[in-house]
Amino acid sequence: MSLNNKNILLCITGSISCYKSVDLYRRLKKAGAKVKIVVSSSAAKFISPYIFESFGEEVFEDDAFKSPLSHIDLSKFVDIILIAPATYNTINKFASGIADTLITLTVAAAPDKPKLIVPAMNPNMYANKILKENLKKLSLFNFSVISPATGAAACGDFGEGRFPEIDDIVFEVESALKEKRLKDKKVLVTAGATKEYLDPIRFMSNGSSGKMGISLANAALKAGAEVTLIALNLNIDNGSSIGGCAKYVNGRIKVINRTDFAGLKEALLDEFKKTDILFMAAAVSDYSFKEKSPIKIKTKDVCETEPTPTLKIELIQNEDLLKAVSKIKKEGQIVFGFAAETDSVLENGRKKLAEKSLDYIFINDVSKDIIGSDENEGFLINKSGEIKNFKRESKESLAEKLIEEIS
Ligand code: CTP
Repeated sequence: MSLNNKNILLCITGSISCYKSVDLYRRLKKAGAKVKIVVSSSAAKFISPYIFESFGEEVFEDDAFKSPLSHIDLSKFVDIILIAPATYNTINKFASGIADTLITLTVAAAPDKPKLIVPAMNPNMYANKILKENLKKLSLFNFSVISPATGAAACGDFGEGRFPEIDDIVFEVESALKEKRLKDKKVLVTAGATKEYLDPIRFMSNGSSGKMGISLANAALKAGAEVTLIALNLNIDNGSSIGGCAKYVNGRIKVINRTDFAGLKEALLDEFKKTDILFMAAAVSDYSFKEKSPIKIKTKDVCETEPTPTLKIELIQNEDLLKAVSKIKKEGQIVFGFAAETDSVLENGRKKLAEKSLDYIFINDVSKDIIGSDENEGFLINKSGEIKNFKRESKESLAEKLIEEIS
C-alpha cells in the first residue's frame, strides 16, 4: 500500500465541498495511512465529526484552547498536513502567520513538515490576487498547492475553484512523501501499442493497454523526475484524461501522442537526446504494411477468388528502435527495455538485453494473463546479469519498485 505507516493530519475547513473529505479520508486509509482529523468550527456546520468517529478515528475540534498542547502533539505526529478543503480565510491566515485555531496553530508548529493545500472556493475568490500572492508566498515555506478543478460552483458561478478529484489529491500526497531520488533527471517513457494502418479504417495492432508505461511515468514523477510520455493510441489530451487508463496520467507529465511506428520513431529519436533514462514499455509493431491505401480498400477489388477468396498483403520489417537508440546513446544515459515472452522467458530476456545493448530489461511472462491486466510479474535483469524476480502485484506498485531499483 502506497501510504503504509504514513501519519497524515487531515484538516477540514469550512467549504461546501467538506463532505468530499469523507471520501478522501477513506482513500487515504485504503492506501495504508494513519489519519487524524481536525474539523474546523465552520466545517462542523457542513459535516459532523461523528462521521469520522464512527470509523473509529480520533477527531479534534478546532478549538485552540480545549487542550493546550494538542497542536504540539499533532505537529510531532504528522508526516504531512493535508488541508482539504482549504478556505480563502484559512490560506490567508497561514500566509500571515496567524495561529488562532488548532489547525493554524498545528501548521505554525510544523514548519519543517510538508503541507498540502487543497483550495476549494468560489471562482472569484480563487482568482483574488490576495489569495494568489499568499499561495505563492506559502510555496516558499514547505506548502504545496493542488490546483482546484474547473466547473460550476455551488453558487452557480463557473470557473476554477472546485474540490479536485480524490485520485489527484492522493497522488500528490504520495508524491510529497516520496524521496526525490530522480531529482533533476529527465525520464522518457513510451507506452501503449502502435497501430499500423492498411487504409483509413483498418489497422494492425496488439493488446497492450499502456498501463505499465503510465505507471512508470507516474512513479518517475513522484520520484522528482521531469517526465515525458510518448503515448501510443491512449487518447490522452494535453496530459488530461479522456478515458481508460489514460485518466491516470498526471497533468504534469509532458505527453506526446503518436499512432504508428513511424510517428513513434520520429518522437523517440528526437526526445532521447534530452533524456537521462528511457523506459521503452511500448509494444511496437515489428512490421508495417508495404503499401497503405489513402482510401478504403473495397473487398471485391483485392480478393483473388480461386480456389478460396484470398487477400494478399505484404509487410515490411520495422527497424528495432532500441537498437537505434543504443547507437546514439551517450555515457550516463540509461536504457530500460521490456520483453513480452511466452516461453524460455529468462533465456530470451538475456538475449534481448545483450542484442539491444540495454542497461536493464524487464521480462513479462505473457502466458500468464498480463496483457491488458492491472497486474504484472516478471524478472528484472541488469547488464551485469543479475536477476530479480518480482511476484504478481499491481502495475503501480511494481513501477515504484522498478524506479527504486534504477535510482
Ligand atoms: N522494440 C523496439 N523496436 C521494435 C520492436 C520492439 O524498440 N521494432 C522494443 C520494445 O519496446 C521492448 C523491446 O524492444 O522494449 C522488446 O520487445 P518485444 O516485442 O518483446 O521483442 P522484439 O524485439 O520485437 O522480439 P520478438 O518479437 O521476436 O520477441
